[in-house]
Amino acid sequence: MSRTVLILLGAPGAGKGTQAVRLAQTLGLPHISTGDLFRANLAGGTDLGDRARSFMDQGELVPDELVLEMLFDRVSQEDCLAGYLLDGFPRTTAQAVALEARLENLVPTVIDIQVPDSDIEERIVGRRMCKDCGAIYHLTFSAPAQEGTCNACSGPLYQRKDDTAAVVRTRLEEYHQKTAPLISFYSERGGVSAVDGRLKPDLVFEACIASIQGSNQGSGHGVNN
Ligand code: AP5
Ligand code: MG
Ligand code: ZN
Repeated sequence: MSRTVLILLGAPGAGKGTQAVRLAQTLGLPHISTGDLFRANLAGGTDLGDRARSFMDQGELVPDELVLEMLFDRVSQEDCLAGYLLDGFPRTTAQAVALEARLENLVPTVIDIQVPDSDIEERIVGRRMCKDCGAIYHLTFSAPAQEGTCNACSGPLYQRKDDTAAVVRTRLEEYHQKTAPLISFYSERGGVSAVDGRLKPDLVFEACIASIQGSNQGSGHGVNN
């Protein structure tokens, strides 16, 4: 059976979640965001949520062992048999190594959505999310038709607790120190497609699709078994 594992790399606010929703729909893959999984655990008051809370609130990465257990449990579910799209995972070399061991000889397709640090704070501080369906908005770049209300489901919009100027600085430091090295990690393996995340979301989406098609045709990356 052919399986595709797609990884979206990128700084906080680069547009991983925005693109992941459309890509998952177009490619027919489940969208797995470790940030969303942690937020669901926080909202549900689980033990995992309690253990992740202080790290997330401060903008630090959650320890690898908590992330890996949660992620591997999720990708063991039946909807992931034909593949999945990872948004926000892996974030450390240890996570990438653990995923590599699990995927055995399957080489993931990796896209790096690139946005300069100078653009990130404005994106993060202006982001609003739907409490009911998780849709992502921005007060100026992607405003809802009616203030405070989701276009898709009429749910209330809220601001993530870690979406402040102070916390975003720590999130960016964590990204540069621990996650950015994964670009080299994957470049040395199946390769990484760089996509310009400063473009309009529709153009970023088209660039992602083009790079996925390119890597599938080129050398079989992302399709295996
Ligand atoms: P997570 O939820 O993954 O947050 P993140 O990586 O900081 O990324 P974001 O969700 O902030 O940004 P995004 O790239 O999805 O951007 P979006 O599309 O929303 O993680 C949160 C926390 O959980 C971490 O800090 C950590 O504590 C923990 N965690 C999660 N995974 C972990 C792991 N694997 N290991 C350890 N800890 C982990 O867009 C942002 C804004 O920009 C929106 O307002 C959007 O409308 C706007 N926008 C999007 N695209 C464009 C565009 N092209 N032009 C203009 N505006 C745009
Ligand atoms: Mg996100
Ligand atoms: Zn909604």
